[in-house]
Amino acid sequence: MALERLTADDYPVTPATNHVAPTLDVLIQLLAEGARAWGAFTGDELIGVTLLKSRGERWNSEFTSVLPRFRGRGIGSAVKAASLVALFNDGHRWFSTGGAESNSASLGANLALGYVLEPRWRTYVKSLE
Ligand SMILES: CC(C)(COP(=O)(O)OP(=O)(O)OC[C@H]1O[C@@H](n2cnc3c(N)ncnc32)[C@H](O)[C@@H]1OP(=O)(O)O)[C@@H](O)C(=O)NCCC(=O)NCCS
Repeated sequence: MALERLTADDYPVTPATNHVAPTLDVLIQLLAEGARAWGAFTGDELIGVTLLKSRGERWNSEFTSVLPRFRGRGIGSAVKAASLVALFNDGHRWFSTGGAESNSASLGANLALGYVLEPRWRTYVKSLE
């Protein structure tokens, strides 16, 4: 929760993607609903996390974040890879994840892990001035 609070402002906000740091109640609810999380630690400090929740047969990444000072070292990719391997070994075969095109690190991690882009959401804005 603390990690997500620290990184919440780094998630890009677009009309199609939005992120609010989960409160303790939300996290408890997610875990009660069967969500699973994978973390990366240095000592006792959680430096990267990803949480996936099943939506029927599909497991969706609800959030992934890495502390700013540890970014670009493969940690985001690693926690995502760990989640996929564990769920795959449990027999799951359908995975999804979201992200904004402007989020190069997230896009890079997802493509490296084999996610395939669906048709993209495009947002058009008309200026009335
Ligand atoms: C997205 C996030 C989790 C990625 O974690 P990370 O540990 O920095 O990512 P990695 O080091 O594993 O890099 C992932 C890929 O993106 C590339 N990448 C990393 N940072 C990048 C950047 N700033 N610009 C472009 N590409 C980048 C890496 O080269 C890697 O690609 P590769 O496997 O082809 O080499 C992290 O940046 C973060 O916490 N961002 C804020 C929260 C967020 O946006 N979460 C995702 C929402 S969908």
